[in-house]
Amino acid sequence: MSFNVTLLPGDGIGAEIIASAKSIIEKISDIFNIKINFTQELFGGCSYDKYGTPLTDEVIQLCKNSDAVLLGAVGGYKWDTLEHSKKPEAGLLKLRSELELFTNIRPAKVYDELLDASSLKNEILRGTDFIVLRELTGGIYFGRPRGFDDVSGYNTMIYTKAEVEQIARKAFTIARGRKKKVTNVDKANVLEVSQFWRKIVAEVHKDFQDVELQNMYVDNAAMQIVRDPKQFDVILTGNLFGDILSDISGIITGSLGMLPSASVGDKYSLYEPIHGSAPDIAGQNKANPLATISSVAMMFDITFDRKDISDVIENSIKETLAEGYRTADIFSEGSKLVSTNEMTKQILNNLTI
Ligand code: IPM
Ligand code: MG
Repeated sequence: MSFNVTLLPGDGIGAEIIASAKSIIEKISDIFNIKINFTQELFGGCSYDKYGTPLTDEVIQLCKNSDAVLLGAVGGYKWDTLEHSKKPEAGLLKLRSELELFTNIRPAKVYDELLDASSLKNEILRGTDFIVLRELTGGIYFGRPRGFDDVSGYNTMIYTKAEVEQIARKAFTIARGRKKKVTNVDKANVLEVSQFWRKIVAEVHKDFQDVELQNMYVDNAAMQIVRDPKQFDVILTGNLFGDILSDISGIITGSLGMLPSASVGDKYSLYEPIHGSAPDIAGQNKANPLATISSVAMMFDITFDRKDISDVIENSIKETLAEGYRTADIFSEGSKLVSTNEMTKQILNNLTI
């Protein structure tokens, strides 16, 4: 078995968390005798500094030639005032679009060891296990016209039938392998684009009668996620609503530093932690590497079809948390505060078959 993985650390804490994830992959490749070839490239603000663009054509090509892409995070104060197309975030959107990664899977699963890291009550959290399935290459993030002039700013929220069908199909398929419930989240009481979206989802549902379909408005969904998160299995939603709801879901694990994600299309796949580049703690060996390591677990499961390896990584995370190791973002009284490197070392120690 042999795989090519492109590493794009990006900006801020990206370098630290990708270095951590890389060492995990290296140990896995030893244990399981899998050859992994890495290529690492600049992406985001650091790419802009060197090449004048956050995403070069060479990097796009490199990603297309690899089996999977592992991304850190992009952005930072330094690049906030650049014109839209030069911003690190624009590079990320272009990469998602070029690789046609229309499905974004963001799991929100509670770790019993971290129940106290969340501001929600234990009894509300315990047993929570849902995923936000976010449409990633359409909607208001990409719709035209877009722009601003002296008197107004505007964006366009648009979805085609084909786009809704393909993400809805994914949602029902994934729910079939889980608790068989899809909650479609939109704003159909106000937006025509949502009325259309809801209609197409209902049509696709006809092929998945064994899966329950529920519709919910996004404002209510935001409240329900913190009121009773256990009610959800698969939350199907568009690009903008998914961005917001997946951050809210950070409350489940107590920290955005715990949330992994997978972005997949028909040809390519990319894995990244949900949190951003955290410029305030960059380079200080404080960042939580677990969201990235968990993203690596998703990579082994989804792209490399090795659920067994994915489980080994997830078990190591659980064990390390059970031993009391915590980075600052998930620290609570009585646990052991560790750096990025120390956390990585503990995870490596606990990686056993
Ligand atoms: C995310 C991020 C990105 C998004 C930004 C950095 C462009 O917030 O992946 O959730 O809005 O999609
Ligand atoms: Mg976001």
